[in-house]
Amino acid sequence: LHARAALIEPDGGRLVDLRVEPLRKDEKRREARALPSVKLSRIDLEWVHVLSEGWASPLSGFMRESEFLQTLHFNSLRLDDGSVVNMSVPIVLAIDDSQKHKIGESKKVALIGSDGKPVALLRDIEIYKHPKEERIARTWGTTAPGLPYVEEAIKNAGNWLIGGDLEVIEPIKYHDGLDHFRLSPAQLREEFTKRNADAVFAFQLRNPVHNGHALLMTDTRRRLLDMGYKNPVLLLHPLGGFTKADDVPLSWRMKQHEKVLEDGVLDPETTVISIFPSPMHYAGPTEVQWHAKARINAGANFYIVGRDPAGMGHPVEKRDLYDADHGKKVLSMAPGLDKLNILPFRVAAYDKTQGKMAFFEPSRPQDFLFISGTKMRTLAKNKENPPNGFMCPGGWKVLVEYYDSLTPS
Ligand code: ADX
Repeated sequence: LHARAALIEPDGGRLVDLRVEPLRKDEKRREARALPSVKLSRIDLEWVHVLSEGWASPLSGFMRESEFLQTLHFNSLRLDDGSVVNMSVPIVLAIDDSQKHKIGESKKVALIGSDGKPVALLRDIEIYKHPKEERIARTWGTTAPGLPYVEEAIKNAGNWLIGGDLEVIEPIKYHDGLDHFRLSPAQLREEFTKRNADAVFAFQLRNPVHNGHALLMTDTRRRLLDMGYKNPVLLLHPLGGFTKADDVPLSWRMKQHEKVLEDGVLDPETTVISIFPSPMHYAGPTEVQWHAKARINAGANFYIVGRDPAGMGHPVEKRDLYDADHGKKVLSMAPGLDKLNILPFRVAAYDKTQGKMAFFEPSRPQDFLFISGTKMRTLAKNKENPPNGFMCPGGWKVLVEYYDSLTPS
């Protein structure tokens, strides 16, 4: 008998689980009803989800000021034993003056969902100033107007942040037919163990899978087999929280990803597809660290990174917001990520001489076609086909249907 390969340890050594035991739910609900309350927005609720299942382990709730400052200034948290874990995006809850006043001297608050029911308790709270401009500038590297997450969740948010230890009464569900794809880090770890994975490589994405993405994943598998791993398993991990308006919605992406597996672009036997519940910041090199760190907690010890991860166009100027190579450079040097094997990839583009997606070769730029997200959208909207070999036909059909569904009839 072979010893089972152990999965990578979660950050801080232990996977955080902030959900209360089923038997104690009633007691917690009663406690919640007697407390001052804070209403959660959809994005707040997504963060409650993220925290509750331990994606941000060892973080045990919305950040207190010391965690917030360490995140902003060091992209990491120092633990009691002196070790350092990565933490690059603030996971914070904003409240306004009147909510702060209502909370008064209370040491705990109830967090309330859109239906008015208590979702969670926040204990041993700390209320501190929300330095919005500084938070935005340090997280995104710019305060240019029009950053999607900033517009949605920061610009009009309150001037205070409330941190504390979270106790989640109700597991977060979306009832969109996709909840069974939302495996927690603990469930993913179980799945990798069940599959006897001796390496787990994660692929974060928020876009439909084209054959360039697939090339990164199949090439990784080949490299891991070459390195001597016998059973590397791919975690295909689309982001499921807030995304900007012109990104393809999650439900359509999931249909597209299913086609990619059905059409054999990726091998279902060695792939686990699941939804990552985090909202998207579009904060490039800062955010990609969060994307990688969270996957350590889910059991991934290899992380794929390609061109301009978590990037987008500059909201005002006609250029990318971030240098397309900075994401992968930063990941390889980031505090607290040394135990994660980073697999950096060159940009993939359509090679006209081969009629397929391939790694760009700077020596013959004229042979390559870059099909941007915008270009892809325009083609799909006009029901035109991309060049053969750009995306599997089943996957492309889903995109055409999606853009068709947007056109008023
Ligand atoms: S992201 O916001 O989730 O990073 P996206 O879904 O576009 O965006 O990308 C998923 C992953 O694929 C990221 O690691 C990104 O760097 C990589 N990637 C996307 N397009 C390309 C490409 N043409 N060549 C190489 N890597 C790419």
